[in-house]
Amino acid sequence: MQIIIYFKEMTSKSPHNALPDSIREDDSYILRKLYIETYGCQMNVNDSEIVVSIMKDNGVDLTSDINQADIILVNTCSIRENAEQRVWGRLDVFRQIKAKKPDLMVGVIGCMAERLKEKLLENEKLVDLVIGPDAYRELPSLLQEAGTGQKAINVLLSREETYADISPVRTDKNNVSAFVSIMRGCNNFCAYCVVPYTRGRERSRDAGSILREIGELNEQGYREVTLLGQNVNSYRRDKLPGNGSLDFSDLLEKAALEYPHMRFRFSTSHPRDISDKLLHAIARNSNICKHIHLPAQSGSSRILKLMNRGYTREEYLERIAAIRRIIKDCAISTDIIAGFCTETVQDHQQTLSLMEEAAYDFAFMFKYSERPGTDAAEKLVDDVPEEVKSERLSEIIKLQSTLSARSKEADTGKTVEVLVEGTSKKSEHELYGRNSQNKVVVFPNNGFKPGDYVNVKITRFTPATLIGVPVQQ
Ligand code: 5AD
Ligand code: SF4
Repeated sequence: MQIIIYFKEMTSKSPHNALPDSIREDDSYILRKLYIETYGCQMNVNDSEIVVSIMKDNGVDLTSDINQADIILVNTCSIRENAEQRVWGRLDVFRQIKAKKPDLMVGVIGCMAERLKEKLLENEKLVDLVIGPDAYRELPSLLQEAGTGQKAINVLLSREETYADISPVRTDKNNVSAFVSIMRGCNNFCAYCVVPYTRGRERSRDAGSILREIGELNEQGYREVTLLGQNVNSYRRDKLPGNGSLDFSDLLEKAALEYPHMRFRFSTSHPRDISDKLLHAIARNSNICKHIHLPAQSGSSRILKLMNRGYTREEYLERIAAIRRIIKDCAISTDIIAGFCTETVQDHQQTLSLMEEAAYDFAFMFKYSERPGTDAAEKLVDDVPEEVKSERLSEIIKLQSTLSARSKEADTGKTVEVLVEGTSKKSEHELYGRNSQNKVVVFPNNGFKPGDYVNVKITRFTPATLIGVPVQQ
């Protein structure tokens, strides 16, 4: 089958096949509607917003109804095997839709596109285009190529691409908080992690375009911005021409001072790179949120070395102590991997004791999943049996729920400032939002609206949320 793809609009950024006058808009080969599904991290959510922006520039609008779509894109994650399995399942569903609607284009974008290009294109009828995280600008021309009946593919990684000039089209519903990517890629090569292979080398986006994007969000009424990168603390470490000499704490503080009515968060920090300078910048700016996500991965120095994390247990705990010393009332969260190669009961016990010592407010916890091509897959043996990984993970989750409850209990009786995000799912008479420490707070509506800052006195808590009442202050 061959179809000519036309775009309804042609801008200077998208010199593609624009719609000629002689063709009617309702001809079926005009791409009008994009349906996009996003898996994985916040970075992917932001990438999807960039993709929507690129498509919008070409007159293709977003739809949330898959049956209306002329093109389906799935933005994928490769971090663990089950993330990939989920996407294969979805592709099967899309294949069934495509069987009934032959002109429908299906594209796989993101990390799986990078990692599994050949496999994705093996089945003729499954996928029309495969695009890696650094090639989204090529989407319109690749769609046209796919229209000629060829499979279209671009998985080239770039050393420069940051999509700095593209304003993401926000697809979230709340219009209160937004993500802004400040860098892409990762140079750390943790032994278990596929990210440096799927997202390429680390590069920083220029500060001017970041601050401009924050300014636009401010004008649109957004109240909270999360600065995103795989390792935000190494922002600008590799000097790019014309970028000045801002480091991450300079950038964060500049944003906080320029937009005092907005709140700022960031993610993710690497324990090896988080500096006292940054901690002081957080401490002295009330609109930089008091929450640091500092993934430990393991509490055993031996495992950390095998993971190539670049710090020991003691060094990690020293950073935790520095956070507690410099920032009053700072929440700390973590990522933990259970059952990494060669992990013994003693190593696992050390992870549990590190969690106790760090007294995390919340955590993301995973079973180790071997990823082909990583150092761990090449050089180490994935020798912890599945049942043992599961047992250890359950112990980790159980401990964390105790720690999370302890942290929420300590909040009871406090008055916290909450940025309202929306109406609670459970009751239309209640609102929800988050406090500076990133804890979800639910409270009676009392006429407040999303985007308002409300002082809430915490009266009780459930496993997931703090519950309180608004107070005058
Ligand atoms: N197996 C399990 N968890 C992993 N992560 C990254 N790679 C793997 C893997 N192969 C986890 C780490 C990281 C988070 C984003 O995902 O904890 O911080
Ligand atoms: Fe993966 Fe480590 Fe880079 Fe995080 S810092 S993306 S875990 S390689």
